[in-house]
Amino acid sequence: MIEVKNLSKKFKAPSEEKGIFGFKKKDFWAVKDLNFNIKEGSVASILGPNGCGKTTTLRMIAGMLTPSKGTAFIDSIDVRKDKQAVKSKIGYMTNNTSLYDRLNVLETIKFFAELNQIPEDIYMPRAEKLFTQLDMNKYLTKRIADLSTGMKQKTSIVRTLIHDPDLIVLDEPTTGVDVTGQSVIIDLIRTIKDSGKTLIFSTHQLNEVRDIADHIVVMKAGEKIFDGDNDSFQALDSSKNFTEIFMELVNE
Ligand SMILES: Nc1ncnc2c1ncn2[C@@H]1O[C@H](COP(=O)(O)OP(=O)(O)OP(=O)(O)O)[C@@H](O)[C@H]1O
Ligand SMILES: [Mg+2]
Repeated sequence: MIEVKNLSKKFKAPSEEKGIFGFKKKDFWAVKDLNFNIKEGSVASILGPNGCGKTTTLRMIAGMLTPSKGTAFIDSIDVRKDKQAVKSKIGYMTNNTSLYDRLNVLETIKFFAELNQIPEDIYMPRAEKLFTQLDMNKYLTKRIADLSTGMKQKTSIVRTLIHDPDLIVLDEPTTGVDVTGQSVIIDLIRTIKDSGKTLIFSTHQLNEVRDIADHIVVMKAGEKIFDGDNDSFQALDSSKNFTEIFMELVNE
């Protein structure tokens, strides 16, 4: 389903060195020669410390950011060559929810569904099901500006799923959501998986990964440092728990 091949992204960052116009900018690789494959119908998780390149990787996979080198294939479609085809297959949720403050929740979903040219008799039952699953019915007429972080996050998730994509890419779906909300989102990820779809998500919540991920990719400073399933992760050190193994991996 997803084939990531030497995927790399170079950014410019201010360096210590001073030039005539302030600090000189230097190139650095935010993602460096990343390779992994994700099977259709599986749930994959990308982990790693802040700034290790998770969001950059997910944006490239979703066709939102052009790689500097290498590429990713979604169902054999090259994200470099056919961004539009990739975008129509994918539901991508960023971690900075981009919603319109003045619309209410229901209007938001209608707006994005119509933008995707989905007929109302198709998107409304879909939306109603998601609203119920995510326990959102109480605030459908609240304006986005008046929602809490968690409610906004749930609205973004519904927005991401409204065109019924085959591949779902979620960047930190549970960040800023309360404990009940987190478990509701995790249950939804399970339901998505049971429907045969492929899902990739990033998180800092290791318990979520242990519970639902079939495939784990750990990154550090733009590079992959682990790629395997839960069992092979645990097998790195059977005397340690999941968090301890993770800390050892990223602090090495
Ligand atoms: N548009 C950009 N221009 C310059 N540097 C960037 C840009 N986007 C990201 N970076 C840098 O690239 C690196 C990777 O960032 P990225 O957002 O992918 O990390 P992350 O793993 O998602 O982190 P977090 O866990 O905090 O979300 C960081 O050093 C970040 O500052
Ligand atoms: Mg990120």
